[in-house]
Parts: sequence; structure tokens; C-alpha cells
Amino acid sequence: MSTLSSVAPAGFDVEKIREDFPVLKQKVHGMPLVYLDSAATAQKPFAVIDAIRRFHEVDCANIHRGVHELSQRSTAAYEETRSKAKRFLNSRTKNELIFVRGTTEGINLVSSSWGRKNVKAGDEIIISAMEHHSNIVPWQMLCEEKEAKLRVIPMNDRGELILEEYEKLLGPRTRMVAVAHVSNALGTINPVRQIIEMAHRAGALTLIDGAQAAPHMRVDVQALDADFYTMSGHKVFGPTGIGILYGKTKLLNAMPPYQGGGDMIRTVTFEKTTYNDLPYKFEAGTPNIAGGIGLGAALDYMTQIGIDRISAYEHELLLYGTEALSEIPGLKLIGTAREKAAVLSFVIEGIHPHDIGTVLDRQGIAVRTGHHCAQPVMDWFHVPATTRASLALYNTTAEIDALVDGLKKVKEMFS
Ligand code: ALA
Repeated sequence: MSTLSSVAPAGFDVEKIREDFPVLKQKVHGMPLVYLDSAATAQKPFAVIDAIRRFHEVDCANIHRGVHELSQRSTAAYEETRSKAKRFLNSRTKNELIFVRGTTEGINLVSSSWGRKNVKAGDEIIISAMEHHSNIVPWQMLCEEKEAKLRVIPMNDRGELILEEYEKLLGPRTRMVAVAHVSNALGTINPVRQIIEMAHRAGALTLIDGAQAAPHMRVDVQALDADFYTMSGHKVFGPTGIGILYGKTKLLNAMPPYQGGGDMIRTVTFEKTTYNDLPYKFEAGTPNIAGGIGLGAALDYMTQIGIDRISAYEHELLLYGTEALSEIPGLKLIGTAREKAAVLSFVIEGIHPHDIGTVLDRQGIAVRTGHHCAQPVMDWFHVPATTRASLALYNTTAEIDALVDGLKKVKEMFS
């Protein structure tokens, strides 16, 4: 097997990176922690922890509301994250970036605000067979309300979308195509540029769920030509409860507000309220200020390491892990797409994933077991659940070796 140094691209020092993540230093059940659950939530570097702490210790005040020094500082720091996100996602302006709770809220905002206004009885929304529940249920709710139809792009045995079938689903009634950039359950990287182009040719809009893509690869919303793109802060090493929704200015301007309250208004009388400009029209109430500031630090952190370097390193790590797991008798990888990122989902004949997860945990190895909020994916592969090891920039080949050793112990215990 290859060594740790052989998989790292030039300038990528994983041991140095690990020093930035205090949580990784601990032992769990007396064993060094091997954290392989970053698709659920990624760990946080000192830069993020310090930024949140600094906000609470030094700058804490509400934003957009005060003339006093602390409010000015808080507002500047929070809004600076929007500028960082503009660079991170390459949006045209920072005003087309809406702070939301996370990807789930981003999708709900679009399905509620855009959907309620634009979807009518008989219209069609296309999603894919590998969506997370958060990119299924909001559209289902919309379709129920509007008597519209939800259509699903099927996938093949590797867990790749079948674009010929997608082409057949597109038609004059298609209003929206909503798909994941990267599948959380399978790791498939979808050809979203092509999916978007095909949707646009049919006159439909697109929403890309970027929750599992943003931590691993460069995202350029202009190059993709996505109409909406949404991501979560906590998957990119930032805090929970903060995320970003990108939308094209023209579309966002034409959409009604999602929630009413403070900050989203221009004037209020009992007769009529007029709304604020973008992005504030969609940001009612006091937001997650510390979260926003922490997210800014996280985006800086990834940018400083280099997104392309992160991608290159993780790609090698994934190949290493794929090869290593394939050598375990009775183990079947679920999701073997040719284009994949960061996810090793698998089943082992005769052993329930929950038992696998529990035995691994006793060895300090954190993986996720279950349906990964993607029950239709499990149904498609005829498995009740999988064990999922998900990778991030701080994982090493030694940790994958530990996983393989752990799985050998699991097999011994259950054979
Ligand atoms: N969506 C997250 C996951 O895949 C929680 O684990």
C-alpha cells in the first residue's frame, strides 16, 4: 500500500493541518480518535473556534442596527463573510448570497418563495434518485400544495445519474431541476454543468445542493450557470446553523420574502410594508452572527490551504481507501461512480451496519451508519442501511488502515 507522503500533493502537509484541529488529538475509548464522519459534520480548526470566541469576547453586538462601535464591528465582520463567500463561490455580487441556517433552509427558501409564486397545477419538478431528504421533501410539499408532479432521474448500479433518462423527463412543464452536486450517501459527483445546461435548454431553472461539494472541490456558480446553489457552513469546517444560498439577482428580486420580521423591511405601516433590497429581503430577524463570522474564518482557512490541493489530496485518499476496503472479503461498496468525492459507503455481508458502527466506535473510529437521510438510495440498492466513512482534508492513509483493521475485528467478532 502507498504511504502517507505518496498521496499528498506538493505543499499539502496533512500532519500540520491536523495540528489545527484540537478535537482530533483526543482518545476515544482509550484509542486515538479516527474521525471519518465529516460528511455529517466537519471538525473545526482553531481559526474558526478563535473567531467565534473573539466575537463573543470582544465585539458582541447586534448587526445592522447600531451606530455604536461594537455594532459597527460586528456588522463589518459579519458582512465580510459575504465578501469571502462571493470569492469562494465566484458569485457576481455579494448581494445575491443569502445567509441561511444551512443547505436545508436554502432549499426550503427557494421551494417556498420561488415555488409558491411560480409553480402551478400540472407543472413538473425534477429531482434525482440520489437526493438527500432535504432536496426531496420540500419539493414534494410544494408539489402536493400546487398539484404539480415530482419526477425523478434514475441512476445506474454504480450510482451515476442516467442522463439519457433525464433528457426524456425534461419538457415544457418542467419548472425546476434540483440535484445534488455530490451525493452524501454515495459520493457521486454529478455532472451538474451538463445537467444545468440541459435544464436551461428546456426552459427550466436549476437548484444545486452543494452541501457535500463545497468542502471538497472548487465551486464556481457563474461557470456552472446555476440559478440557485446552496451550501452549509458546518460541512466546510465552520459552525452549525449557518449556510449560504446563492441565487441569480434577477430571480431573487422577483421572489417574495421567505419570512417577515426585522431587517427585511424598508418601511412598515399597518396598511403596507415595503421590503428591503437584496440580500436583506430574505434575512428576517437577528441572524446567527457568530456563526456567520465563524464561517468567514472557515472559508479563509480552506482558501489558504488551497481548494485544488484539498481536492487532489482527498482524491488520492479516496483511491487508497477504495482499494483498501475492496480487499475485505464480503464487503461491498455502495456507490462506485467514476467521478466520486470523499465517501466510502459499504455493507458487509451478514453484519448489520449498526453493529459495525458500534464495534468501530469501541476502537475510536467514528463512522456514520444508517440511511444517511437518503432512504430512496437505500431502497434502490436494496439495503436497509450502509456504513459510511467520509473523508476530509485532515484524514490520513494511516486512519484508513485503522478502519481496515477495525473492520477485520468486526468480521472476527461476527463470523
Ligand atoms: N446530511 C448529513 C450526512 O450526510 C447530515 O450525514
